[in-house]
Amino acid sequence: PGSLVIAVDGTSGSGKSSTSRGVAARLGLRYLDTGAMFRAITWWLLREGVDVHDAAAVAAVADRPRIASGTDPLAPTITVDGTDVSVEVRSDEVNAAVSPVSAVPAVRSRLLELQREVIGAGGIVVEGRDIGSVVWPQAEVKVYLSADPDARAARRAAEEGGADVAATQQSLLERDRIDSGRATAPLTMADGAVHVDSTHLTLDEVIDRIVGLASQAA
Ligand code: C5P
Repeated sequence: PGSLVIAVDGTSGSGKSSTSRGVAARLGLRYLDTGAMFRAITWWLLREGVDVHDAAAVAAVADRPRIASGTDPLAPTITVDGTDVSVEVRSDEVNAAVSPVSAVPAVRSRLLELQREVIGAGGIVVEGRDIGSVVWPQAEVKVYLSADPDARAARRAAEEGGADVAATQQSLLERDRIDSGRATAPLTMADGAVHVDSTHLTLDEVIDRIVGLASQAA
């Protein structure tokens, strides 16, 4: 279905990316990782030496980097001024700085415009924190994905090649705390969202659930 938009929001490490990419690949839809856009701005700010805890300094330059997202679910990319930073945006430094940056209204409004441009006519699975609530409230399917912190930390640490589970969990929970507590577009379950708890589900089971919701909506 050409115009279908599937919004997948949820906590850090709940499996949004693997799930969203899997759903998009199965249904032949595009895929947009909005978290990667916030990570890209954050990476650029760190490189420019901007103090990421100084909201006014961040806001003053928020429209400078040119951010572009590739929407192939099998090979998503994120570029800043034409350079692919898909790997760099996953660093510990970006993990630690991205939530304060994402709380700055000027950063959000800049990316909101880009996100709406990409979503455009639809046919896309979009993952983030505020997609169903703010970016695209009219999405045909809205999912709120969660999982227990222990499960999220264990999965994420394994993905990162055996990173420390306790430190990973602390980093995920700290991001959740800031993302849920901010004034502008906080992480929340959108009106009309279906809550999927992935703690005891396999990736394929979660994808099946969402594909099922999409076929009901189409
Ligand atoms: O999804 P991911 O963990 O890559 O997102 C990184 C960060 O980007 C989040 O912790 C949050 O601060 C921010 N974000 C956001 N709104 C979105 C997507 C991500 O504020 N729609």
